[in-house]
Amino acid sequence: MKFTTLFLSLLASALAQNDAAEVLPQPQGRYATDIQTLEVIDYSRPDPYDPNHGPRKLMVSVFTPTVLAKDCSHWETYPYTPPLTAELLEPLFETYGWPNSTSYINRLRLPTCAGENNDEFPVVLFSHGLTLTRLLSSSQAQAVAAQGFVVITIDQPYDASVIEYPDGTVVKARNWTLAELDGDVQTRAQDVSFLVTQLANTSSPLHRPYEPKVAMFGHSLGGASSVQAAYDDKRILAALDLDGSPYGFNTTVINASTVTFTLPTLTAPFLLFNEPSFVNNSGMPDLYAAFSGWKRHLALENSFHLTFTDLPLLVDTFGLRGSLPDTFEAYSGTIPGLRARDVVSEFVGAFMGKWLKGEESEVLDGPSEEWEEVEFVGVD
Ligand SMILES: *[C@@H]1O[C@H](CO)[C@@H](O)[C@H](O)[C@H]1NC(C)=O
Ligand SMILES: *[C@@H]1O[C@H](CO)[C@@H](O)[C@H](O)[C@H]1NC(C)=O
Ligand SMILES: *[C@@H]1O[C@H](CO)[C@@H](O)[C@H](O)[C@H]1NC(C)=O
Ligand SMILES: *[C@@H]1O[C@H](CO)[C@@H](O)[C@H](O)[C@H]1NC(C)=O
Ligand SMILES: *[C@@H]1O[C@H](CO)[C@@H](O)[C@H](O)[C@H]1NC(C)=O
Ligand SMILES: *[C@@H]1O[C@H](CO)[C@@H](O)[C@H](O)[C@H]1NC(C)=O
Repeated sequence: MKFTTLFLSLLASALAQNDAAEVLPQPQGRYATDIQTLEVIDYSRPDPYDPNHGPRKLMVSVFTPTVLAKDCSHWETYPYTPPLTAELLEPLFETYGWPNSTSYINRLRLPTCAGENNDEFPVVLFSHGLTLTRLLSSSQAQAVAAQGFVVITIDQPYDASVIEYPDGTVVKARNWTLAELDGDVQTRAQDVSFLVTQLANTSSPLHRPYEPKVAMFGHSLGGASSVQAAYDDKRILAALDLDGSPYGFNTTVINASTVTFTLPTLTAPFLLFNEPSFVNNSGMPDLYAAFSGWKRHLALENSFHLTFTDLPLLVDTFGLRGSLPDTFEAYSGTIPGLRARDVVSEFVGAFMGKWLKGEESEVLDGPSEEWEEVEFVGVD
């Protein structure tokens, strides 16, 4: 692992001399990963939000474990976003306290290592928050994949901030009202079912030559989508929600801060991971209570909503935190970005390992010194 880290920093500085690239840190997990970006179109379903009623067109990133990281002989890198996307994401980053982000984002790369691996890894799906982007959880997804999962991050059209398709067309987020979010979450769950079907479709680029176990996690509305998907489709064996209120179940918007839900009893294993200010708010206690099986309710100290994305890691990679407006920490908290990635991916990996591989992990049992910033709010 030391060698890997040394190698990556040498690689990073070598690239820096050429085009000032910044390679995000390789995760702690044992596997190196490779990354593929794919367009997957559901021709059977018109996109309900497309003014031209075209088919639902998803963009996904697939993070596949390859060789053991310690055995990688040739590290390569993969761009964090395509260049046009980096430009179009500028207003999003500005909203969250990082103006002038484009030139930085264009320098960012993820470490990859090509290689064959014949192990039958389970599949973990990921869904992004409302008007965010799957790309802003790429390092986190890679850190889960490094623990031995195929992780597929999904961009949901007209909800993702920006989607750039292989033919160059761009679809931006529409303007959503709170009352529309139930429908959005249900559409997202249908996207997920379609993708799970493609894993067994021999003509699909997502096809796996074995029948993988599948579970899902998501951030914010993506967390709500993982709950909805696990409820709608029993092929999704477990759901993990990073700080997402439970939209999708007959949500009634009382006012901007108070929302009620009609939650059925949910039986999938469940982990709810909150920022401290959400633990007792935004429908979280009701959501947690609606699950009847194995479940955990955790809170991450010093976190806010965007701590559960890569944003703090990206900003810290460039040493920019001190120069950004207060808005940044109001959304991203004060926990260092790399630590946030490693804590969140550790708990996601432990949960997925338990329910997809039958591996028990002590980190889910209760507070520990190693993960001291994680509070156990509920253990059931
Ligand atoms: C950074 O962004 C701000 C706000 O959009 C703008 O006023 C400023 O000119 C930008 N600075 C640089 C160096 O691009
Ligand atoms: C969303 O609303 C804003 C402000 O009301 C407007 O400027 C923008 O064009 C709208 N975007 C779309 C895609 O309708
Ligand atoms: C299987 O994949 C092919 C190629 O993407 C696609 O045309 C076909 O509709 C898919 N079948 C199903 C049942 O989704
Ligand atoms: C949805 O919520 C409304 C208002 O609380 C309630 O009248 C209605 O019965 C609920 N519908 C379902 C299907 O739960
Ligand atoms: C929103 O509704 C809740 C429940 O009726 C109420 O307690 C709260 O004061 C309302 N907040 C605002 C800002 O109107
Ligand atoms: C949530 O509420 C419980 C019970 O009122 C309280 O003990 C706990 O400190 C609260 N947690 C947070 C993070 O606010």
